[in-house]
Amino acid sequence: MYTTLLTSLDNGIFTITINRPDKLNALNKEVMNDLDKVMDEVENNAAIKGVIITGSGQKGFVAGADISEFLGLSGDEGKALAKKGQDIFFKIENCDKPIIAAVNGFALGGGCELAMACHFRIASENAKFGQPEVNLGLIPGYGGTQRLVHLVGKGRALELLMTANMIDAHTALQYGLVNYVVSQEELLDKTKSILELITTKAPLAIAKCITAANAAISADGYQTELDAFGECFETEDMKEGTSAFLGKRKANFKGK
Ligand code: COA
Repeated sequence: MYTTLLTSLDNGIFTITINRPDKLNALNKEVMNDLDKVMDEVENNAAIKGVIITGSGQKGFVAGADISEFLGLSGDEGKALAKKGQDIFFKIENCDKPIIAAVNGFALGGGCELAMACHFRIASENAKFGQPEVNLGLIPGYGGTQRLVHLVGKGRALELLMTANMIDAHTALQYGLVNYVVSQEELLDKTKSILELITTKAPLAIAKCITAANAAISADGYQTELDAFGECFETEDMKEGTSAFLGKRKANFKGK
């Protein structure tokens, strides 16, 4: 049913595993289309009571949007890509069933954004978080500039956004980006046990908790992010940053 996702349903808990381990589960078009479709399944299948999103392999949750798909995009095309990503991540955030990200490795760029679109996050010891888009002459475009500010505060968010530094799982815990840090072996069991507790509660009340908590965040910033993301695609620096990553060399930015 999905080409890039593995899914399983066990006792009401639906596990979605992004499955491109050779590319650290980077979000290419296919993964994004599959995520869009799988969220329809989550909404429509009454047997699904709670959801885990995780990545396959020992190393990566999701290492970002697939950089190889960025080359050659115009500003408008970049903006359309971000709009699609934002819409899919809104579907996750606004889903009325609880969704927890089980972050089992690198959660960078779009991967960190995906984790942040989930209702909350649990990390394994080896998880690493970051928004390295400025290395590519870009900014996050799937809601990351907004959700990061809300989750960790503006100062820490801007440091992460502007330095492109990664933080480890314990720093993410201290920042409030994740709720728990556990060993890699314990990650799925811990996530399942919390979802099992949540699914004993009144489902309509759970849905209302999600709706009300989401209402604390205004939508305007997402449009600002979309416009800025699209504008990055018009710059020489973005072409330089993405070509440098794909060519496995250091980028030489000119500020143009
Ligand atoms: N898009 C496309 N391909 C990616 C990718 C991404 N975001 N992240 C990793 N990959 C690919 C690598 O190109 C490599 O492919 P190859 O084996 O065909 O060369 C493979 O996944 C494994 O990654 P590699 O870089 O060899 O692993 P590593 O352990 O040396 O480094 C990272 C891991 C996460 C530090 C590094 O892959 C990285 O910096 N990725 C990009 C992160 C990023 O900028 N994300 C934001 C995108 S907007």
